Amino acid sequence: MSRRRKIYEGKAKILYEGPEPGTLIQYFKDDATAFNAEKRAVLDGKGVLNNRLSEYFMTRLAGIGIPTHFIKRLNMREQLVKQVEIIPLEVVVRNVAAGSIAKRFGITEGEALPRTLVEFYYKKDELGDPLVTEEHIAAFGWANPQEVEDMVGTALRVNDFLAGLFAGVGIRLVDFKIEFGRLYEGEMVRTVLADEISPDSCRLWDMETNEKLDKDRFRRDLGNVTEAYAEVATRLGIIKTST
Ligand code: C5P
Repeated sequence: MSRRRKIYEGKAKILYEGPEPGTLIQYFKDDATAFNAEKRAVLDGKGVLNNRLSEYFMTRLAGIGIPTHFIKRLNMREQLVKQVEIIPLEVVVRNVAAGSIAKRFGITEGEALPRTLVEFYYKKDELGDPLVTEEHIAAFGWANPQEVEDMVGTALRVNDFLAGLFAGVGIRLVDFKIEFGRLYEGEMVRTVLADEISPDSCRLWDMETNEKLDKDRFRRDLGNVTEAYAEVATRLGIIKTST
């Protein structure tokens, strides 16, 4: 692994050069960060769980025709993905008020939103990933109008599918963040789902108890972070036991 060329190191993942041109290896670390990396910890086993969970979601989404960068899982912590040009936007879908929207608009956390919202944030750590509008995206050229339309359409499909999947195992999908990339195939450019989908990037609440089964356990010092991720994986049938 150490001989591989590192392409990029993020807060929770590393990207290495892949075995074939146009491929990358995505390595899931145990590192957890929050509040723009002001809060940090190493959570034993988180990377292994997120690798499995992200594989599962990406595979299921591909199964309903959503294009993704995922090719296959290689081992406990690594997956082979297609190399894409990341669109510098975080796409957040919200069903229930929580986190930054609850704070921004003074809404009680847990209140259902009047309708599902899709928001864009500009990916820029130094600025704390500010909320942006389609006007900003067009003016600054972060994505073209077709890409914006594709991202919104896909984000809503991902939401419908995942909300149903989670509801089936007693979990409410409160909100989540996804990222997209441009996949160059000859003359063609396609907008595909990239990065990861895991409890690091979703808010997941137990439907009966409202217990948080996601990264808010880390953000809010609730403890048992990896145990909660394992609980999600167990309920979905990805792993056998939560211990
Ligand atoms: O913090 P906020 O309420 O805006 O987050 C909305 C959703 O996006 C949450 O599920 C959060 O985990 C996810 N998110 C993320 N990465 C970020 C910001 C938010 O995965 N940089």
